[in-house]
Amino acid sequence: MSTYWLAEVGGVLHADGIPLPEVARRFGTPCFLYSAGRILTNVERFRNAFFGLPFELHYAVKANPLGAILRLLAREGLGAEVVSGGELRRALWAGFPAGRILFTGVGKTPQEHELALRCGIKAVVVESLGELHMLEDVAHELGTAAPVALRLNPALSPETHPHLATGREGSKFGLDLAATRAALEMIARAGDLHLVGLHLHLGSQIFQVEPYLAAWDFLLKVHSVAEQYGFAPEFLDLGGGFGISSVGERIFPLEELAAALTKKVPAEVTLVLEPGRALVGDAGLLLAQVLCTKEVHGRRYAVVDAGMNVLLRPALYGAHHRIVPVVPRSGPHEPMDVVGPVCENADVVARDCPLPPLASGDLIAILDAGAYGSSMASQYNSRPRPAEVLIHEGETHLIRESEPVEDLWRGEVVPPFLV
Ligand SMILES: Cc1ncc(COP(=O)(O)O)c(C=O)c1O
Repeated sequence: MSTYWLAEVGGVLHADGIPLPEVARRFGTPCFLYSAGRILTNVERFRNAFFGLPFELHYAVKANPLGAILRLLAREGLGAEVVSGGELRRALWAGFPAGRILFTGVGKTPQEHELALRCGIKAVVVESLGELHMLEDVAHELGTAAPVALRLNPALSPETHPHLATGREGSKFGLDLAATRAALEMIARAGDLHLVGLHLHLGSQIFQVEPYLAAWDFLLKVHSVAEQYGFAPEFLDLGGGFGISSVGERIFPLEELAAALTKKVPAEVTLVLEPGRALVGDAGLLLAQVLCTKEVHGRRYAVVDAGMNVLLRPALYGAHHRIVPVVPRSGPHEPMDVVGPVCENADVVARDCPLPPLASGDLIAILDAGAYGSSMASQYNSRPRPAEVLIHEGETHLIRESEPVEDLWRGEVVPPFLV
C-alpha cells in the first residue's frame, strides 16, 4: 500500500521511511505514531488554498493536545482554539501567544474567564447571555475590557453523524438570532465588553462546501446586524469540521471553498478557520498488536491490544478507520472484526474488515488516528494510556511516555479506617 507518509517497502509498512516493527520494538504497543512532515503539509494545504485572503488558521487543540504537536503548530505561526482552562494553559505552555488564542466552549467557569482575560486572550467566544453576564462581572472586577466573540447557532444540518453536527437546531451550542440580538444590546450597554468577532462551528467530518457557504452568508447577515448596533467585528470564524476520508483521499475541497469566499469577505474583516482533524487526523496512526484470533458462532475476530480505551471514535460515533497489517501474510482477504480487549460489546475497532490472515503477535496499523484518538483515550479497565511518538525528518521522538501502572491509582487516597 502507498498513501502519503506511509508506504510498503519490501513487504513491511514504513512510516516516513521508518519500518513500523522497529517502532513497536522501541516503544511497545499500542503506540500512537505521528508524522510532523504530514502535519506541516496539511497546514500548507490550507495556506495555499486561502492565499490572498485575509486569513488566520487556528488549530482546534481538542483534536490532539500533545505538547509536541502544539509546539510544532505554534512555531508555524498558527493560532489556537481552546475549550477549557486546561487547554488554554496547555496552549500557552506550548508557546501560542495569548493574542492568537480563541477560547470557545459552551460552559466556562468564572475562573476560566479570569485566566483568559489575565493572559490577554484574542477573544472569549461566548455562547449564552448568562456567560456574557459572567464575563462582564469578571472583566469589571479585573478592571479590564473583555474581547468578546459571539458563537452563533445557524441552525444548519450538514451531512454528518448527528453527534458531530453542532450547528444544527436542537444542539446546545451557540446563540440563536434572538439571543444574538440580546447579546449585541448587552455589549452595546456594557462598558467592559468589546465585540471583536463572530463565530460558528457546523460540526465535524463535513465534506461539502455548501453548508460552509450557507454559514458564511449567515455570518455576513449577523455582521450587518452588529453594524446596526455600531460594531465592526474584526473577524468572522467559520469553525472547523473539514472532513478527512476514511479511504485515504482528503476530499474536502478547500480550494473550492476558498474560491467561493474570495469576493465575499468584507473589507476590514479577517476570515478565521479552526480545523483540528484536517491538520492532524491523517498524520497519525495507532500501532497495535494482535493478541489472539478466534471464531465465535462463525464470526472471525482479531483481538488487538488497542481498544476503545485507546481509540474511542468507532464506539462513540461508528467512525471508520482503515486497518493495515504491518507485515501482511499471504492468503485471501476475508472479513474479520478487529476488536479491543475491553469488556464492552461496543469495543470494536472495525467490523467486517477485509484482511489477510492474521496471527497472534502480528502488528497492525490503524490509520487516520491522529485526531480525537489520544485526546479521548482513557484508563478504562485499568489499562494505562500508551506511548506517543513523533517522526520528524526521519527520526522518531518519544513525545509522551506510556503511563506507568502506578498512574492508575495516582491521586487516590486510602481512608484511615482501611489502612
Ligand atoms: C468550536 C470548534 N472549533 C473547531 C473544532 C474542530 O473540528 P474538526 O476537528 O472537525 O476540524 C471543533 C470540534 O469539535 C469545535 O467544537
